[in-house]
Amino acid sequence: MEKSEKLKTVKFYSGEVTPLEMHKVRVVQKLNLLPVEERKDAIFGAGFNTFLLMNKDVFLDMLTDSGTNAMSDNQIAAMSVADDSYAGSASYTKLEKAILEVFNQKYFLPVHQGRAAEHIISKTFIQPGKVVPMNYHFTTTKAHIEMCGGVVEEIYTDEALKTKSSFPFKGNMDIGKLNKVIEKWGAENVAFIRFEAGTNLIGGQPFSMQNLREVSAIAKKHGIKVLMDTSLINENLYFIKIREEGYQDVSLKDIMHEMMSYTDFSYFSGRKVSCTRGGGICTNDHSIYMMMRDWVPLFEGFLTYGGMSVREIEAMAVGLYESLDFDVISHSPQFIKYLVDSLDKSGIPVITPSGGLGCHLDAGQFISHVPQSQYPAGALAAALYVASGIRGMERGTISSVRDADGNDILADVELLRLAFPRRVFTLSQVKYAEDRIKWLYDNRHLIGGLEWIEEPPVLRFFVGKLKPIGDWVDKLVAKFREDFGDSL
Ligand code: F0G
Repeated sequence: MEKSEKLKTVKFYSGEVTPLEMHKVRVVQKLNLLPVEERKDAIFGAGFNTFLLMNKDVFLDMLTDSGTNAMSDNQIAAMSVADDSYAGSASYTKLEKAILEVFNQKYFLPVHQGRAAEHIISKTFIQPGKVVPMNYHFTTTKAHIEMCGGVVEEIYTDEALKTKSSFPFKGNMDIGKLNKVIEKWGAENVAFIRFEAGTNLIGGQPFSMQNLREVSAIAKKHGIKVLMDTSLINENLYFIKIREEGYQDVSLKDIMHEMMSYTDFSYFSGRKVSCTRGGGICTNDHSIYMMMRDWVPLFEGFLTYGGMSVREIEAMAVGLYESLDFDVISHSPQFIKYLVDSLDKSGIPVITPSGGLGCHLDAGQFISHVPQSQYPAGALAAALYVASGIRGMERGTISSVRDADGNDILADVELLRLAFPRRVFTLSQVKYAEDRIKWLYDNRHLIGGLEWIEEPPVLRFFVGKLKPIGDWVDKLVAKFREDFGDSL
């Protein structure tokens, strides 16, 4: 790895800013685009919940970047030399080496996916009366902390929830709010401070190294541990390199190691960061490792596989090294930027600046006539599927919970997330998404709200079912036919 990697960009003669794939496609999967009437039937069948659509009915699957990324040829090659054994697998030794070289972390606990790490961390560090300050929550993280009796305090900056912003680091913590939370709860009741890289629910937004450094200094002063969720660290690394002063000539590896030097322990979902499955917990602190070690064989599997297949472990090691390759980690943010900038230019409410992970439409503004009690983000997700066969994910009030009196706790923002699985879509597919979103925006007055048919008590967004209020879906289909003729 070179000490200094210059930013590599390809300029077009036309002057256009066009993202360019720095890889070629060697394995493909056939896609299916249903006619609009069949898409309507499919969304009714799925209870207006895009999680319940079958993949055969989906054209572009932008539900998530989790477990849907394209592996490299080297990852697939590595899988064929996996060392199958319950204990002491050579594949695991390779992964430990990758964890040390990429993250500079000595101790590693493998788990079957990110939320399993959250389970073990929460079980170890959270009891009733404990608080976890964080830049923003993630659904499974918050659920695990609350199940153990803990409380989440979000201490994001005022910029974080603004749809339109040019602030480059919306994932930063508000230092003033952090100090207040520590004062209010007492340092001894802060289980740890959680920093989420590439903050998922506010639009895949990064934090800056400077902010992390400041938070780490405050934590040290009070004897509080810092935990980093590195599931989306690749894109956070990319943004520090291109947006933060002083980092343009620093290698990705050095940026990563500096970030990790400000944390006491970290965990990741391999479904994102390494384009595989699985996950893990990393630390350089032997006592932290020992506090959690014995839960792994109980909940996940023996310490040298933790619920992962050895093939996955081989691919994960290679995937982690690839997260330090600028060509690999810049692909997704550049494609996302292309879509976000184009929609923004057309006046469509979309989270800016573009982040990692995906393009986030602001459903609250997109269909401002639909009240939040009728779930605008869920309604927009269903409408976009009908209009295009594209499956996005509701990240609004349906993803929230009810209070003790049974009332919806309205989400801070109603977002429709269109995730970009890494190295999966081509530019013409992104242009198709752009076209259909623009059509939907021009016809947004046709979209109505949703109401529950079946509402599960926990993480209701996964399997809950809803129905449209009124006949707005029929009107949307009729307008589609009028404008697109016999087009799919
Ligand atoms: N942390 C972050 C920041 C995540 O985005 C996720 C998963 C997890 C933890 C949990 O990891 O899925 O491997 O158990 N995010 C997925 C998503 C589900 O679609 O954004 P997991």
